[in-house]
Amino acid sequence: MDYQVEPQALKDHVILVTGAGAGIGKQAAMSYAEHGATVILLGKTVNKLEATFDEIVAAGFPEPAIVPLDLKGASKQNYLDMVDTIEQEYGRLDGILHNASLLGMIGPFEHIEEDSFDDLMQVNVKAELLMTQAALPLLRKAPQGRVVFTSSTVGHSGRALWGAYAISKFATEGMMQVLADEMSITNVRINAINPGATRTNMRAQAYPAEDANMLKTPLELMPLYLYLMSAESQDINGQCIDAQPKR
Ligand SMILES: NC(=O)c1ccc[n+]([C@@H]2O[C@H](COP(=O)([O-])OP(=O)(O)OC[C@H]3O[C@@H](n4cnc5c(N)ncnc54)[C@H](OP(=O)(O)O)[C@@H]3O)[C@@H](O)[C@H]2O)c1
Repeated sequence: MDYQVEPQALKDHVILVTGAGAGIGKQAAMSYAEHGATVILLGKTVNKLEATFDEIVAAGFPEPAIVPLDLKGASKQNYLDMVDTIEQEYGRLDGILHNASLLGMIGPFEHIEEDSFDDLMQVNVKAELLMTQAALPLLRKAPQGRVVFTSSTVGHSGRALWGAYAISKFATEGMMQVLADEMSITNVRINAINPGATRTNMRAQAYPAEDANMLKTPLELMPLYLYLMSAESQDINGQCIDAQPKR
């Protein structure tokens, strides 16, 4: 399918991107801004967010905002406060890209440690739940609210050694489907993207011996990221779509 959108498809939209300081999230923030959106850059490491901010401003795109937040320690109140601030500053929120994730340990199921399991489920699942709950009142008011989750090939087909990460991505897809069904009677659309193997730090952590030049770059995935955030995708709800055709 051709996922092209108009050059200013996200004009005046306000879009929150988690994990906007690196990898796919950074590129998505850049691409949303390029298409007219004011992007709220959420992430853990401030200097990475500042670098994304600077690149967006230098390119002449709408000035973004920075929300430094460690999803591991964030509370429900943090998300409610963040959404209040967004409403006061911008008066609207049109979309969230849930992109930030931890990979955790690649290794046998029997070696999954309780503490690292809790951290991973906190960042990859519970943070998405609490942030989405806090944002839904604003998303419902948007002309076409959008929530895009990020899954993985191991989020719909379990694979040896992918442990807590795979479990968390199954949970993300479940959350996406439950919410999509509830939102089907509204203008809000809820979907997920499976990026597939992509040239980022996380991929290098999982496959350190791989030749990264063989992988797609985040930029190559952007047509789908833009499409699911735009008005064009009004008829799509509750789907997890592969950004890369099967290889
Ligand atoms: N790359 C792939 O091949 C691939 C394949 C399938 C799915 N995915 C999914 O695609 C998404 C993006 O992955 P990526 O490859 O771009 O990963 P990445 O380069 O490692 O980037 C992950 C981002 O998440 C942020 N993050 C991690 N923990 C956080 C926390 N506690 N609080 C706030 N932010 C946090 C990181 O911020 P800091 O840099 O500040 O830590 C970073 O910006 C993830 O959901 C991943 O599971 C990737």
